[in-house]
Amino acid sequence: MCGIVGAVAKKDICPVLLEGLQRLEYRGYDSAGFAVIDSDKKLQRIRIKGKVEKLQEQYRLSPLRGTTGIAHTRWATHGKPSIKNAHPHTYKNQLALVHNGIIENHHKLREELISLGFEFNSDTDTEVIVNAISNELNSDTDFLAAIFKVMKLLEGAYALGVLNIDEPGRLIAARKGSPLVIGIGVDQYFVASDVFALLPATQKFIYLEEGDVADIRANKLTIYNKNKKIVDRPIHVSESTVDITDKQGYRHYMMKEIFYQPDAISNTLKGRSTKDQVITEEFGENAKQIFSKTECIKIVACGTSYHAGLIAAFWMEKIANIHCQVEIASEYRYRKSVILDNTLFVTVSQSGETADTLAALRSAGDAGYLSTLAICNVDESSLTRESDLCFLTHAGIEIGVASTKAFTTQLVALFLLVIAVAKEHGLSKKDEAKLVKQLSTLPARVSKVLEHNDAIELMAKDFADKNHALFLGRGSFLSVAMEGALKLKEISYIHAEAYAAGELKHGPLALVDEDMPVVAVAPNNNLLEKLKSNLEEVKARGGKLYIFADEISEVESTNGMFVLNINNVYDYMSPIIHTIPLQLLAYYVAVIKGADIDQPRNLAKSVTVE
Ligand code: F6R
Repeated sequence: MCGIVGAVAKKDICPVLLEGLQRLEYRGYDSAGFAVIDSDKKLQRIRIKGKVEKLQEQYRLSPLRGTTGIAHTRWATHGKPSIKNAHPHTYKNQLALVHNGIIENHHKLREELISLGFEFNSDTDTEVIVNAISNELNSDTDFLAAIFKVMKLLEGAYALGVLNIDEPGRLIAARKGSPLVIGIGVDQYFVASDVFALLPATQKFIYLEEGDVADIRANKLTIYNKNKKIVDRPIHVSESTVDITDKQGYRHYMMKEIFYQPDAISNTLKGRSTKDQVITEEFGENAKQIFSKTECIKIVACGTSYHAGLIAAFWMEKIANIHCQVEIASEYRYRKSVILDNTLFVTVSQSGETADTLAALRSAGDAGYLSTLAICNVDESSLTRESDLCFLTHAGIEIGVASTKAFTTQLVALFLLVIAVAKEHGLSKKDEAKLVKQLSTLPARVSKVLEHNDAIELMAKDFADKNHALFLGRGSFLSVAMEGALKLKEISYIHAEAYAAGELKHGPLALVDEDMPVVAVAPNNNLLEKLKSNLEEVKARGGKLYIFADEISEVESTNGMFVLNINNVYDYMSPIIHTIPLQLLAYYVAVIKGADIDQPRNLAKSVTVE
């Protein structure tokens, strides 16, 4: 998964390319590059290993100018991060190409092209595309036809931008399986992996569809569908503002996003319920009818979004009495699953572009589900466009790679879904009103728990020199523990695992010693007494405990056991409340360790490859 930007204009487009690339860096940041066709109709290219900032430095030292160009920020899949593997890839300074996605049959294509005399200078799957286009151009095919021909050869996923020095004012873009959007300016067109990259340049966008090819010139845009027919695609005007990249005084986007959660939750709730009722139509025009038929729910997602699904399943079975199964998208898509009658297929995704989740949705399409619903933070993403029903979390764009506000707003959306389904299956108006009321208390309660910031910062010091940590929880709080462990490992690089507290004695207890901090999520629910016994088992083995407890939990700090009372009163919202301290803990541990908080190593925000 990588980020692509391209532009054709009547003026120099290098600043737009570089700014766009910076804004796409969340998609990958191990190497970057750009290429332009200059006024002498020559291809000029700069590539670096590292982040876009380094590319900008290089550009400042030896600026390029050009009116047609493409740029790329990479998250390595085939070939390690290096200059030779950085995009754009070229064919003899004649063609330049950027690619997001994976070409699955690249080995075969590479061998065929080598037998035709083509040379390869990188370890990437991408280079086969540029060589294959050149091969087609050699046989007298025109530029556009060559790209159509090569698309037929490619298996896998791609968004492409291609330059050809024989056609200096022209950029051809194509997509299949990876997102691509066209930005419309005055006497200029842009192309990018998402609208966010182009917001400083334009507010007007066209989303390319599967198999589309865009033939772009400064004053003319032609879009062809997969059958090579010219098509009109609707123009969308974005309401997003440019200043979302402002950190507003916070040191990192992740911290800004953690503290934005009360607002993100309020925004997600706004207009979705009355004082005592959920507005079911917010899920789609015929949601009510679909929910009334729903007898079973299948939630499919990845990573943090999967954890949100796990918590929702507890709510769904308890409140709506509807069977709910949750599965990791990358597993679901490759197995045969038995679909019970009237099952609603729900995907949860911040980006709406996660390749595995999208593939799972596509495979669900004709598998016999009642309907599909996407819970997503990005309007017009592939997932929202391809689902029958859609519910947008209004978390605002999330830039930190570690998901925080997207997760808590997903939980809000899922709780609304639980109520909307439950009311079609016998939930009384009185109980619905009580649940809606619990939701409405959330923003204030999240603000309150954020007040424990300083105490958690202090606690984090104990973790900074540790290599491992255990997270414990029971019931839906096991999923909260899983989310806490994921946050800690992804941004601080400390190995962290979550366990159902009752499972400890079946194996993992062997790991516990003074070097293994154990974090426990201890809400004041019916499992608290059981959890306390599990914690005693840890204490007796010399493990150091960090407990996030509710009001009235009667768990006291003692030697080797640090209890932080987060002043929560237990109810259905508690998994959301208990997530916040774990986000802060991971954040502060990573800060103490000097890690790259917003762009952790090896990761990227939008996982558009398998
Ligand atoms: C972790 C994180 C990832 C994502 C996962 C799915 O902090 O952000 O685990 O949750 O890659 O991404 P989306 O939600 O965009 O489908």
